[in-house]
Amino acid sequence: MKAGNLKKGAQIVAPEGKLGVLIAGMGGAVSTTFIAGVELVRRGLAEPVGSLTQLGTIRLGKRYERRSPLIKDFVPLASLDDLVFGGWDIYEANCLEAALFARVLRRDHIESIRGFLSEITPMEAVFDRRFVKNLDGSHVKNAPGLRAKLDALKADISDFKTRNGLDRCIMVWCGSTEIHLKPGPIHQSIDSLRKALDENDPAIAPSMLYALAALESGVPFINGAPNLTIDFPAMTRLADSLGVPITGKDFKTGQTLMKTILAPGLKSRMLGLEGWYSTNILGNRDGLVLDDAESFKTKEESKLSVLEYLLQPQLYPVLYKNYYHKVTINYYPPRGDNKEGWDSIDIFGWLGYPMQIKVNFLCRDSILAAPLILDLVLFMDLAQRAGMSGIQEWLSFYFKSPMVKEGLYPEHDLSIQSMKLKNTLRYLMDEEQITHFGLDYYMSEEGQPQQD
Ligand SMILES: NC(=O)c1ccc[n+]([C@@H]2O[C@H](COP(=O)([O-])OP(=O)(O)OC[C@H]3O[C@@H](n4cnc5c(N)ncnc54)[C@H](O)[C@@H]3O)[C@@H](O)[C@H]2O)c1
Repeated sequence: MKAGNLKKGAQIVAPEGKLGVLIAGMGGAVSTTFIAGVELVRRGLAEPVGSLTQLGTIRLGKRYERRSPLIKDFVPLASLDDLVFGGWDIYEANCLEAALFARVLRRDHIESIRGFLSEITPMEAVFDRRFVKNLDGSHVKNAPGLRAKLDALKADISDFKTRNGLDRCIMVWCGSTEIHLKPGPIHQSIDSLRKALDENDPAIAPSMLYALAALESGVPFINGAPNLTIDFPAMTRLADSLGVPITGKDFKTGQTLMKTILAPGLKSRMLGLEGWYSTNILGNRDGLVLDDAESFKTKEESKLSVLEYLLQPQLYPVLYKNYYHKVTINYYPPRGDNKEGWDSIDIFGWLGYPMQIKVNFLCRDSILAAPLILDLVLFMDLAQRAGMSGIQEWLSFYFKSPMVKEGLYPEHDLSIQSMKLKNTLRYLMDEEQITHFGLDYYMSEEGQPQQD
């Protein structure tokens, strides 16, 4: 965020006109649950449970002031009625067919918006099977070379805007998890990335082309998967230089959500950890993709990094130096999108006495992810209208592997992430930061309630 460009309060550009939501992986379980969900909410057929922008409030000022407006009344967010959906997939299925295939939503929910869903059809994807080994779709662009594919995606964005009379767009990667990639020399500068593009370098993944197309079109980009995609210097510098916000990566939903709620609690009480064993069964298409070792490695790295940062073993060697952390995901088709996760946590307390915690979370992956997309779309649009660009760390709340500026470590503690997000909203609206210090109520006249 370049402070010089930041607009606050009344200067934030108003959310007028339609906002396009372009989704890479539009025919997936998460995407269709999100799109159908927004339409069900718009028609008053369901509630937007899990969405901070729709249901959350924000405390302002001192506690005795009792000012807690809804977030959507406090900051100028786009209205749900102004969202228009589009995107790409490697399968031709329209949103109705894709939502039925995903088997997340009830039949009556889908039937009630059948016409709406069937009209949303995917554009041809940019796909390369080297990066997602367990899928093979035919609805793909055959433009020769990476530059031509990038240009085709940019043309799609521009056509989508014109076709729908849109003022602004946001792009979200909800596509499959690509194989594990480490940033190499081509990812270090904007020039090296552009040169690599012209040379059809094999280290440029399809998700990077979508991100480039978004940035070069002035469209904020959200990465919902653990892919490298935008998390390297060339891409973050490009976003900065073009003045476009980016955020990622990997939506924080089931098991990791629980981990980042539990682990900070154990650490605040100075309880030690001997081991944390996490396993899952998952039977949707995401589970099939993650059944390939190279895609799973990308996910595994994202899931494993959380505890290391949260527990800070270098600061607490007595408690966290030698804990064992294991994460596995097993593809098990009968459960579909209804993931079951088990955590067996071996902790120790006073004098080193051992104890155990068991968590068995029978969750619904896409039901947990959909509201995060809605919030991210609305907040990223706000960020752009407020003149923010580059990495949006204040949205760490939504991610397993939050992106941060080089030299910083990510913040994983859910309650700190929530505070960071709300304080950013207060800052944007010129309201006092809330630190939860509390002594101020007891220290001065200023801290006293007004007596009428
Ligand atoms: N559901 C969750 O709780 C959760 C949490 C964190 C991250 N994620 C990630 O979100 C992504 C989507 O999850 P899902 O359950 O919807 O998976 P899904 O397999 O149902 O959907 C992914 C879609 O992406 C499409 N796709 C793959 N490569 C593409 C490309 N290059 N261009 C366009 N489309 C492409 C696939 O055809 C598929 O329709 C996955 O990467 C998953 O790991 C999901």
